[in-house]
Amino acid sequence: MSYQREFPRRLKVALVGAGSHSYRNLLPAMNFLPVTLVAVCDINESLAAATARQYGATAYSSTRDLYAREALDAVFIAVSPYLHPQLACEAFDAHLHVWLEKPPAIRADEVKEMILHRGERISVVGFKKAFMPGTEKALEIFADPQHAPIRSILAEYPMSIPADGERVLREREFTNWLGNGCHPLSFMLAVGGAVRAVCVHRGAHGGGVCVLEFTSGAIGTLHLADGGNSTQPLERYSVFGKDCQLVIDNSSRVIFQRGIPFAYGQTTSHVPAGMESGAVVAVTLQAADKGDTTTMDATLIEAGMAVAELVVEQAESHSEENKINLHGIDELVADKGYLSLSLIHI
Ligand SMILES: NC(=O)c1ccc[n+]([C@@H]2O[C@H](COP(=O)([O-])OP(=O)(O)OC[C@H]3O[C@@H](n4cnc5c(N)ncnc54)[C@H](O)[C@@H]3O)[C@@H](O)[C@H]2O)c1
Repeated sequence: MSYQREFPRRLKVALVGAGSHSYRNLLPAMNFLPVTLVAVCDINESLAAATARQYGATAYSSTRDLYAREALDAVFIAVSPYLHPQLACEAFDAHLHVWLEKPPAIRADEVKEMILHRGERISVVGFKKAFMPGTEKALEIFADPQHAPIRSILAEYPMSIPADGERVLREREFTNWLGNGCHPLSFMLAVGGAVRAVCVHRGAHGGGVCVLEFTSGAIGTLHLADGGNSTQPLERYSVFGKDCQLVIDNSSRVIFQRGIPFAYGQTTSHVPAGMESGAVVAVTLQAADKGDTTTMDATLIEAGMAVAELVVEQAESHSEENKINLHGIDELVADKGYLSLSLIHI
């Protein structure tokens, strides 16, 4: 990967839709892209103005004015699936390349319409699971004849599919299936390729299975894990090839299982010698001297003061309950979990 400042030429781009996702994720990521952000457009004028000011860009409240006044190469659009088709077609008609946030549309026909308008322009939808590092690793591994072809793919994602899909589509209702179902599906399609048949079995309490039959001959199961917690950890993907499997656990942990030399009744170790068998694991690690450990001193001082207060309380009370160990701390439990980055219990 190359970063923005390493590129001799940058594309002149505008952002359409300066809402929550754009501000939190797209604009910071642009720091690394070979782009110059020329303009920010949002129908919310004050939001457009504040965001444009922060990035040294010009603010617009209408895409028509934006395209009339700025000489752009491309546009980033992050508004909503209700408006994406119209906004993308308008940008294509203005001869711009388009990066479009997911979901691209409400109905498949609207995607066909956008493709008609696209012409020779380059366009990509931000289906982030299709581009995550674990997906690239899956593509690399299963392109190798030693591991190909992919037999099956299993995706687990907290999700349900509407019971009354026809009405939902007719009334253009926003559902979690529309908003987030595209995440696991985009992983499956990126790795499995084109799909020739789909079958869904929905459970009475929500959840269910969505089976994808790929034209390659592989079969995919999207386990609609409705009821599963949708915070952290969120999702899991497994891809099964020839005598091997790749697991992407919660996006960050990638495990390639190659198996071990195994003779039934004779093999005595599950970790045999050598590096050519077993699992290859890639994890995201936090440096031990960084991050939440910086709060350790403050937390220990606070904990020490709490203990001192209890000692005073105890000295004044004759109760035998909740005796404090005056010889010091017995046990320290430091929780560095996802949701409690700086929590330390003593
Ligand atoms: N990939 C992800 O993980 C992820 C996460 C969150 C949101 N999203 C997607 O990003 C998109 C935006 O979501 P959000 O949460 O930022 O919504 P948001 O409502 O916060 O932002 C949308 C913005 O678009 C503006 N807007 C509406 N019509 C417009 C128009 N015609 N021209 C210009 N601006 C217009 C609104 O004023 C608003 O500021 C959605 O498609 C959503 O699904 C993706």
